[in-house]
Amino acid sequence: MNHASNHPDAWHARYVAEAAARAGAVVIRDRAGKAHTVEMKGTNDFVTEADKAAQDAVVQVLRRSFPEDTILAEEQDDSEGSSADFSGRRWIIDPIDGTTNFMHGIPPYAVSIALQQDDAIVAAVVFDVPHDRLYAAVSGGGATCNGIPIAVNDAATLPEAVIATGFPYRRTSHTDLYLDVIGTLLPTVRGIRRHGAASIDLVRVAEGAYGAYYEMDLKPWDVAAGALIVREAGGRVTTIGGAEGLHPLFDAQVVATNSRLHATMQDALAPLHHIHA
Ligand code: IPD
Ligand code: CA
Ligand code: CA
Repeated sequence: MNHASNHPDAWHARYVAEAAARAGAVVIRDRAGKAHTVEMKGTNDFVTEADKAAQDAVVQVLRRSFPEDTILAEEQDDSEGSSADFSGRRWIIDPIDGTTNFMHGIPPYAVSIALQQDDAIVAAVVFDVPHDRLYAAVSGGGATCNGIPIAVNDAATLPEAVIATGFPYRRTSHTDLYLDVIGTLLPTVRGIRRHGAASIDLVRVAEGAYGAYYEMDLKPWDVAAGALIVREAGGRVTTIGGAEGLHPLFDAQVVATNSRLHATMQDALAPLHHIHA
């Protein structure tokens, strides 16, 4: 729990974020299943007109209530070099997390919105659009899905756990290491899933479906909202080395677990430890 715990401002932010996510979802649903204008930002890194329109809808709702706040959003020109060092209030937005899924008509994909206040995330919403599931959290106030409290599972060993990850597809220089780690994990876990939307992987840890999730090379908007939701559901989110706070958002390494599996996962992922943003 941090300094902003359960603060009325954080609750207000959470409700505005929900309205913003729903506004984004209206745009996304309207365009789902239709032909898209697709641009390539890099290798296998796509943006469609739906990402941009959804971001506009989200930002419009946030701006109406909080015109002074800073915005850090994926489809914004100056987002690339963002750093964790920030003081004040900053909204961290991914208008469609899971764009490749969206483009191919494969659920899930989500709108992800988090509010950073100084050195902490204080409010968060992840809206799984195709499943109509709205996950939310306020720092110190617990986590919910469609208004019902959620909690991590209690698996204490990997054979009791289904885990999730994302495969590297932009930077392939570490593919061998990644496959080695999967080779080590595969015989020890109940199953490994790759669903293509980091925010959804995180909320599935929060609601007890997955015991753990890890991925490299992510951006702050992939992780910011989901990380608070996991923590508020009783889970733990760090880098492989165990750095807490904003590090797993900005250091391109995230390990999220039900807490009990954390040390085991850190050990299993140790070969990836030296890979950073
Ligand atoms: C991506 C998804 C995916 C993860 C990628 C992210 P995007 O976000 O979360 O699961 O593996 O690294 O970039 O590009 O669809 O917003
Ligand atoms: Ca994303
Ligand atoms: Ca995105």
